[in-house]
This record gives sequence, C-alpha cells and structure tokens, in this order.
Amino acid sequence: MKLCMIGTGYVGLVSGVCFSDLGNKVICTDVDKKKINKLNSGKIPIYEPGLEELVKKNFSQKRLSFTTDINSAIKNSDIIFICVGTPTQKKSNTANLKYVFQVANMISKNVNKYKVIVTKSTVPVTTGDKIEKIIRNRNKLNKFDVVSNPEFLREGEAIRDFVSPDRVVVGTKSKKANKIMKSLYLPIVKKDSRYFNISRRGAELVKYASNAFLATKISYINELANLCEKASVDIKDISIGMGLDQRIGERFLRAGPAYGGSCFPKDTRALVDTADKFKINLSIVKNVIKSNESRKDLLLKRIHRILGNNLKKKKITFLGVTFKPNTDDMREASSLKMISYLSSKGTFVSYHDPSGKKEVLDKIKNVKFHKNISSSCYKTDLIIIHTEWNEYKQLNFKKLVNKKKFKIYDLRNLYSPKKMLADKIDYFGIGR
Ligand SMILES: NC(=O)c1ccc[n+]([C@@H]2O[C@H](COP(=O)([O-])OP(=O)(O)OC[C@H]3O[C@@H](n4cnc5c(N)ncnc54)[C@H](O)[C@@H]3O)[C@@H](O)[C@H]2O)c1
Repeated sequence: MKLCMIGTGYVGLVSGVCFSDLGNKVICTDVDKKKINKLNSGKIPIYEPGLEELVKKNFSQKRLSFTTDINSAIKNSDIIFICVGTPTQKKSNTANLKYVFQVANMISKNVNKYKVIVTKSTVPVTTGDKIEKIIRNRNKLNKFDVVSNPEFLREGEAIRDFVSPDRVVVGTKSKKANKIMKSLYLPIVKKDSRYFNISRRGAELVKYASNAFLATKISYINELANLCEKASVDIKDISIGMGLDQRIGERFLRAGPAYGGSCFPKDTRALVDTADKFKINLSIVKNVIKSNESRKDLLLKRIHRILGNNLKKKKITFLGVTFKPNTDDMREASSLKMISYLSSKGTFVSYHDPSGKKEVLDKIKNVKFHKNISSSCYKTDLIIIHTEWNEYKQLNFKKLVNKKKFKIYDLRNLYSPKKMLADKIDYFGIGR
C-alpha cells in the first residue's frame, strides 16, 4: 500500500519506518526542512534504539522516502496518517489542534481519489468530526473516510511496541476504511495483538483514558511512597505485593519522580479540559495532575533537607535528565523544574545523560553537561539519580566522586540501602 505520514516526529517516523519494513511504500513528510534534509542524508533526528538501522534498510530498498512536498505525497498515497504534535495551548489545559487542522486543510486540496485519512495524533473526542467537516467543505470529490487510529508506542521501546502492540485500535464505521486498515495491520495483528474496531469518537477517547489511567497509577504509587517514608516501609514491597494481584498488574507501580514526557502531562490536561467542555468533572484526573505537580516541589524540599538546607555553592550531579531511559525527549521532564530551581538557589549543576547534551538546559545558569559519568560526579556534594538508564545501575560512587563526604539521592531506587550503609555512603531513596 502507498502511505504518507504527515509529521515525521517520534510517532510519524517510527510508525512510517515500521510500515515500510512491512512492505508498504511510505513517504514521510514534514514542514521542518532541517529534519527532512537530515533524514535524506542518513541522519536520525531522534534517539530511539534500533531506528537508524531500520531507516537505512528501508531507505536503501526504496520503500521509504522523506520530503517536504506534502501536497504531492498526499496525492500519491492511499492512506494519509496525521502524526503532528498536539501540545497544550498556552495558559490553558486545551490541546492545541492548530497543526492537525493545518494538515486537514492541506489534505482537502489533494484528495484526487479515494483515500483513508487516519489521525494518529492524540486528539480530543470529536476532532475526527471536525477534520471530516474541513475536508468535506473544501473537496468536491468526497471520496475519503476519516479514521482514528491512536498510537500507543512508548519512546525508548517504540519499534518493539509498534510491531508487537497489545492492541490496534481503529475508530471508524466505514466498512471500506476498516477493511483497508485491517489489511495494513494484518502482519502485526497476526502476532497475538488484538485488532479492535470501534467508533471514531471511542478510539479518540480510549487513548486519553489509557494515558490518564497510567498517570494515575504512577501518582498513586508516588503518594504511597510518601507514606512509606514516614511509616518505615519499603515501597518496593508494596509495589510487588500489589502487582502480584493480576487485577492490578505490576507495571507503572514504581515510585519515582513526577511523571513527565511528551504525553502524560499534556494528555491528562487535555482530558479534563474536554470533560469540562462536556460539563463532566473528572475529579480523579484533576487530582492526579495536582499530585504530580506537587511531587516536584516535594522532591526539591527533600533535596534541601538532604543538604542541610544549605544549597548555595553546592555541586549537584544529575545522572540522567530525560523523563525516561532510551529517549532524548526532554518534554516536561521533571529534571527541568528541579535543575532550574537548584540553579536559582546558587548551586552548580553537572549532568550526564547517555542521549547527550540538552539545548533546553543551556539557557540555565551554572549548568554543565559532561560527556562521561566520572567527570560529572567528580568532587560532587550530591548525586541525584534521575533517569533509570542502564549506565547508572552498577557504579562505584566512591571512586567516581573521589571525595570523603558526598550524598546520593536515588529517585529510581536502583541501589540497595543496606549496601550503601555498609559502604558508608549517605544514601536516600524514594519511599524507603
Ligand atoms: N511521542 C510519543 O511517545 C507519542 C506516543 C503516542 C502518541 N503520541 C502522539 O502523537 C502525536 C505526535 O507526537 P510526536 O511525539 O511524534 O510529536 P513530534 O513533535 O515529535 O513530531 C511532530 C512533527 O510534526 C511536524 N509538523 C507540525 N506541523 C506540521 C504540518 N502542518 N505538516 C507537516 N508536519 C508538521 C513537526 O515539524 C514535527 O516534526 C501527538 O499527538 C502525540 O500526543 C506521541
């Protein structure tokens, strides 16, 4: 099949490449010329394990191409995927659908034969109706269906998630469009995931409902971790004890910093905003958002305590700054608020991250990136293990820091408190 991805970001690039690997002809498009030029010269604009090899393979076999000529790409394709961003609008909780509607307008000018128009971007319920209206109003041919096919891949595991999804949700009442989507996903669905055809509005809402539920799970265990700290209980025991119940499940029950990333924060906000517009009060999700925001302050207070309320001129090292491992994505990472606060209090922040230097941190005073872990930790006062990269799981801190007194705040509970005590290292974890 001939496919066109509009928006070549984390979702558009990964899904486009994976579709091409399944034998489809895929054109990945974007308005960002730099990104397309990079891809055409064999460079991958994002950090995602396994992606480079897959891009190179399918590009050289001519199943995958990259262009900024979106009009021609739409004309020459049977299925058009909308994969542009849907960030939160400034000073509100509303999802900004500007890019989605721009794309809908573009599509409306280029429907020259029957096409399936698929929204992969995460959009509030009823957006598909609006996209359909835009195209129908402008295109006389009326040969198209608008389908919702939300994406559930996780950054860092994106390729595996895409080719082995738990489910493929396709929202459409059109038999023709559903048949096409089913045959597109057939090679993936064969491998025990479920193809789930529901209404378009249902598919739009399933995505938000899922993300808000996962965010709730994280906030729930994070709040319980606070109680564990006071009651001298190890949160790990609680997570395992709860997770063994199959009705609950063990995933997303690991206490840590506030959740971040490109999806949970904006999607929880957009969901409560949509519900408010329907005059429904999603009080649980509203409180999850509040709980997550206050978690950042709570951890900062803890850092104050750990350093004896004396932050000035202290050296603090962040091991990992991305919101999770195996990605370079800094969108709404909890490290952002933590680092800018610490810098404002006169600390010197060194950081290391396997995905490299971060532009967003360049603007903050007294913040320095280190290419290797040892130089970032050298003579530091406090190491904050922020992101659970494999690189940080077996470190010899005494050797790295090379100084008698230093402290560790392990936000991911990677190390054994007993072992740290035996090694005479001042060690603090989460919920322990
Ligand atoms: N990142 C994830 O892990 C993830 C997972 C599931 C769903 N989603 C959803 O998928 C959507 C895309 O997310 P992302 O992380 O890939 O975003 P992204 O910011 O990485 O990529 C979006 C791309 O769209 C391009 N773009 C913007 N306007 C355009 C236009 N008019 N025409 C062509 N290209 C245009 C941008 O230049 C950018 O490259 C969002 O709605 C997001 O919520 C993301």
